[in-house]
Amino acid sequence: ASAHGGGPFIAAIDQGTTSSRCIVFDKDGRIVSVDQKEHEQILPRPGWVEHDAAEIWTNVQQVVKGAMEKAGVTKKDVLALGITNQRETTLLWEKATGKPVHNAIVWQDTRTDALCRELGRNVGQDRFRRETGLPLASYFAGPKIRWLLDNVPGLRGRAENGEILFGTMDSWVIWNLTGGPNGGVHVTDVTNASRTMLMNLHTMSWDEKICNSLGVPMALLPEIRSSAEVYGEATGDLAGLPVASALGDQQAALFGQTCYSTGEAKSTYGTGTFLLMNTGNEPVNSYNGLLTTVGYQIGDQQPVFALEGSIAVTGSLVQWMRDQMGLINSAAEIETLASSVEDNGGAYFVPAFSGLFAPYWRSDARGVIAGLTRYVTKAHLARAVLEATAWQTREIVDAMQKDSDVELTALKVDGGMTANNLLMQTISDVMDAPVVRPMVAETTCLGAAYAAGLAVGFWSDTDELRANWKRAAEWTPRMNAETREREYRNWLKAVQRTMGWIE
Ligand code: G3P
Repeated sequence: ASAHGGGPFIAAIDQGTTSSRCIVFDKDGRIVSVDQKEHEQILPRPGWVEHDAAEIWTNVQQVVKGAMEKAGVTKKDVLALGITNQRETTLLWEKATGKPVHNAIVWQDTRTDALCRELGRNVGQDRFRRETGLPLASYFAGPKIRWLLDNVPGLRGRAENGEILFGTMDSWVIWNLTGGPNGGVHVTDVTNASRTMLMNLHTMSWDEKICNSLGVPMALLPEIRSSAEVYGEATGDLAGLPVASALGDQQAALFGQTCYSTGEAKSTYGTGTFLLMNTGNEPVNSYNGLLTTVGYQIGDQQPVFALEGSIAVTGSLVQWMRDQMGLINSAAEIETLASSVEDNGGAYFVPAFSGLFAPYWRSDARGVIAGLTRYVTKAHLARAVLEATAWQTREIVDAMQKDSDVELTALKVDGGMTANNLLMQTISDVMDAPVVRPMVAETTCLGAAYAAGLAVGFWSDTDELRANWKRAAEWTPRMNAETREREYRNWLKAVQRTMGWIE
């Protein structure tokens, strides 16, 4: 804690898929303290994933307290609180009591598959793409709301009467922080709203027609605000503290990586991987399987849009090798094992465990290991596991170049998997572009802190934030073009083998 430059500070809450954390930052964007708490993953059936929102709110309060205690600061030393969150995870709760009516349905949950297929029947999965930037997929919040209204007895009537509120985790946390049933503000920001499939990107407001098509009463919906403004003041222990930013976690990482110019991109390597590129003030349509999404909006400035490539399974494949296959004892061991051989021995692993996300959006795909011969060892498989993340990155980068006409000059990376040097080198090799990692790898919380700090005038503008970005590591391409193109062809062949598995 002695490394930081003294107060005042900004605190950011990251309400993530597996844990909630709070980080206190100083003016240079350096970490002063961190506190974190995991919550339960509730898996009622194959493909279903839920969270207990009450548990999450309790954890959020604890980590804020914990981080402030570790930093040795009180709420008087903290100028503002920023929020970032797992996106798309959907919650409905009672306005009068603050009680959730059901567990939150998590972004990875595939229970709305059939509903999405039905909505796309005769018109295709791009039915709402022009308005919302998204294909019909179980990933997004809108169909999850519809599922809850159809399946929780009596809920639809109560929702139509205005007794029920919808929110993604940003809304839930902000509503509780600012007073809950005793006056909490019911808001969301443009980035989170852009993941519901209910917001029109051209008007930045809820789209009545789409709400009707999905059967979602508009009385449920929060007010859409910018990503950086004071939504309200906290009550309770944090009374008076301004709640001053909200961004979906991937957009927060884009902001924390200071990708403020058109063409700048970041990729966050966690359980899944999300690559976002800033495309400026106009939404860019994707014809190559990417999502059009809101990057951020600072106060009353114009919104900034992004193209996103979402990959469902990257780090979780390494966990699967460890937990389900027992081929490694720790996640870090994948690198040692993969480094013990020169190449993949001819094996390719496409982890389409929950179908394929970008650029395919195929829920009928399932995982394959292709190219097996008697020669292949577990070390080759370990290599194929890492290469899977690299090739999936390459496919998204290719799609981005086609959609945006921007040649990627370097990719900024962050997230847990960036500790794996072999993986970072492989990504640089297959993209044929440099990969760079910043000093502060906690870019998600940092982005939320930056947005909150801008809202209260702690930082004056994005140029000041850019100056905080310091390079910690860089990988440059070493693979020859012939190998790269041959390997890429093999990878694409393996991808084809995953499709149509589920009929
Ligand atoms: O879209 C899902 C993404 O926001 C999840 O992020 O880091 O909480 O798994 P994470």
